[in-house]
Amino acid sequence: MIKLDISQTACGVDIAEIDALKNAAVESNKLLHNGQGAGNDFLGWVNLPSSITEAELAAVKAAAKGLASRAEVVIVIGIGGSYLGAKAVLEALTDSFHYLHKKRENPYVIFAGQNISETYTYELLDALKEYSIAAVVISKSGTTTEPAIAFRIIKAEIDKRYGAEAKNHIAAVTDKQRGALKTLADSEGYDTFVIPDNVGGRYSVLTPVGLLPLAAAGIDVDEFVRGAQDMEAATGEDVPYEQNIAAQYAAARNALYKKGYKIEILASYEPRLQYVAEWWKQLYGESEGKDGKGIFPASVTLTADLHSMGQYIQQGERILFETVISVANSQRKVEIEADKDNLDGLNFLAGKRMDEVNKMAELGVVLAHVDGGVPNIKIEIPEMSAYWIGALLYMFEKACGISGYLLGVNPFDQPGVEAYKKNMFALLNKPGYEAESKAIFERLGK
Ligand code: PA5
Repeated sequence: MIKLDISQTACGVDIAEIDALKNAAVESNKLLHNGQGAGNDFLGWVNLPSSITEAELAAVKAAAKGLASRAEVVIVIGIGGSYLGAKAVLEALTDSFHYLHKKRENPYVIFAGQNISETYTYELLDALKEYSIAAVVISKSGTTTEPAIAFRIIKAEIDKRYGAEAKNHIAAVTDKQRGALKTLADSEGYDTFVIPDNVGGRYSVLTPVGLLPLAAAGIDVDEFVRGAQDMEAATGEDVPYEQNIAAQYAAARNALYKKGYKIEILASYEPRLQYVAEWWKQLYGESEGKDGKGIFPASVTLTADLHSMGQYIQQGERILFETVISVANSQRKVEIEADKDNLDGLNFLAGKRMDEVNKMAELGVVLAHVDGGVPNIKIEIPEMSAYWIGALLYMFEKACGISGYLLGVNPFDQPGVEAYKKNMFALLNKPGYEAESKAIFERLGK
């Protein structure tokens, strides 16, 4: 069971102020189900887990197996919602030092197209020389510049290496009809998976966008989906507020926002969850940051960041609240041994598991931060397994939809992300941007 604890928010908000949002949270959840809220053409994710068929999962797994059988490295090309979900789940469920183990059962799954760095791309191509490769290219619009550039480069490499066989080394995930990637995939005969029209990028981890790369990496996608399905049921429209942790989390963070807590820090004591936080930041940042509103989503990995960000959190401007993803059970065991000389003075920890120390750090930090005026929300998952990560991600999606409606925004659009693209295309003299190019060069005095 995933548990939510909002009792440590009292330093910033009365429980009554959270409860005051209870009915609105329930109504917001209903809007997600009855499709009467803003952005209702992008609600395909709400019932997505329960609508995934055995056949769909089997097709994803078969394609993943095909790629994995042909490649030691699978390069997943995408950005934003077409990248972060797979990256988050993969990191959460993968041995932190897998690359040091000489024996491997599954290919390395790595990422490209999430930046335009020449250094990154050069080094990637250089490293790939030593391996057989395949690619999964993911873009809903099929026109996003970053992954399009990366795919052009990696496709050329695959074409050069494998000739007529190249198409068996590439799979595409894109819109069912439109976009340059769809045209390309059709013309080259790639195995192609569809991102449903009504599922936006940041809500797409349970579509082939997330499932295909994860299956290629050997992640148990059945369990991942099953966790999400159970959380879908646990946060359904008829589930009472008291039992619906997505509604409660949404209400708590909105109550805090109303009291001036404008920054939410997602914290975890497990480094493997760092990219869950990156995924969460996109989900909440893109969904809520608009119309001059929104909680700014930030993240820290602890205890590491206590030695960098800890000072600010403890004593900086009091506009922060913290949400901790706590992992109840460590699946690995490392015990701290006694030392006969005890020169480091650590014998008081002898016989304890590291996780026990980590948990005491977590509790100590929560209490210190609360004392420092940082309200704390705790989300506890039983363990870092495919099932619980699936449940957690769906819970965050559901809470985000509810929260966006509570905030009074459309949580399913992202009009602001176009601004930089217009400038970049103008600066690069993209055909069709002549007027913008003229204006931007005048502005720059060039
Ligand atoms: O959530 C979103 O919609 C965005 O982050 C997109 O996923 C991102 O911009 C990539 O878009 P596309 O999948 O069309 O390449």
